[in-house]
Amino acid sequence: MSAGLTVLAPAASAAARGADVLYFTLVGFSTFMAGIFIVLIAVFSYRYRKGSQANRDKPPTHAKGLEAAWTIAPLMVFLGLFVWAAYDYARQSQPPDDAMPIFVVARQWMWKAEHANGRREINELHVPLNTPVKLIMTSQDVIHSFFVPAFRNKRDVVPGRYSVLWFEADRAGEYPLLCAEYCGTDHSAMIGRIIAMPPEAYARWRDEGARHPGVAQRGYALFRQHGCIGCHAAASTVHAPELAGLPGRRVHLADGGTITADETYIRDSILEPQKQIVAGFDTIMPSFKGQLNEEEIMAIIEYIRSLDAGRHAGERP
Ligand code: CUA
Repeated sequence: MSAGLTVLAPAASAAARGADVLYFTLVGFSTFMAGIFIVLIAVFSYRYRKGSQANRDKPPTHAKGLEAAWTIAPLMVFLGLFVWAAYDYARQSQPPDDAMPIFVVARQWMWKAEHANGRREINELHVPLNTPVKLIMTSQDVIHSFFVPAFRNKRDVVPGRYSVLWFEADRAGEYPLLCAEYCGTDHSAMIGRIIAMPPEAYARWRDEGARHPGVAQRGYALFRQHGCIGCHAAASTVHAPELAGLPGRRVHLADGGTITADETYIRDSILEPQKQIVAGFDTIMPSFKGQLNEEEIMAIIEYIRSLDAGRHAGERP
């Protein structure tokens, strides 16, 4: 196992080590199966070669038990591998509820990250160890792909929507961050590094460099500046949906469907408010398309996330 692992980047999360075990198990079984076929082909080719003395009287036409065995046994093994892989995949796709959000915006040709308190960085991403981290990512131009070999994790970053990638680093160190989708001339230079550090060191790093207001504070300023507050504040006379506690909630829509209010839903509601109307509300909200850039939309979403039962939209975060 360890000899095989040296061909891969060192794994820096439990999920990455799990992926390696699955990978080598798959390669092992496939090699084993292929080996059986190769050996049998060689043995029979030699045994029944032209002119050999092998007994060719009464060749068997079928053997039900044998045929059933060699069909069912590999089927079970590979179905088992499928279930294992599907389970791992589902877990990798579903960030835990308490995951720490970091916003990432990709553009030709750099990665920009913003932490909750407003600290920003480019082509570097500092993360705390043993903490689930959830990246909410979008692109300003073309499709990029956020790839960290040490986490065995990769997700396309697409303009016009959010993609989410999560991981939990458990080994301190620096790991390469790559763009894994051809995105133009300097695609190959769109590289950076992930710096995984103990939680205390991360907190110190994050707080010492905050030159900007926190993301939620910036979202609050935009929320006022663009007039959202006129309808969505608790005291407003306009009938607008309640925003406190919205992220993650199931929302009933006017067309009878339901949807989970994730980042993509909130983003769509800001840019295309006519599309998914909440049941019981009128289609009076104007679109903010062209008025907000990706980083501003992310800030507003983070502001909405900062609201809770005790604090309503329109109040300072
Ligand atoms: Cu960005 Cu390739």
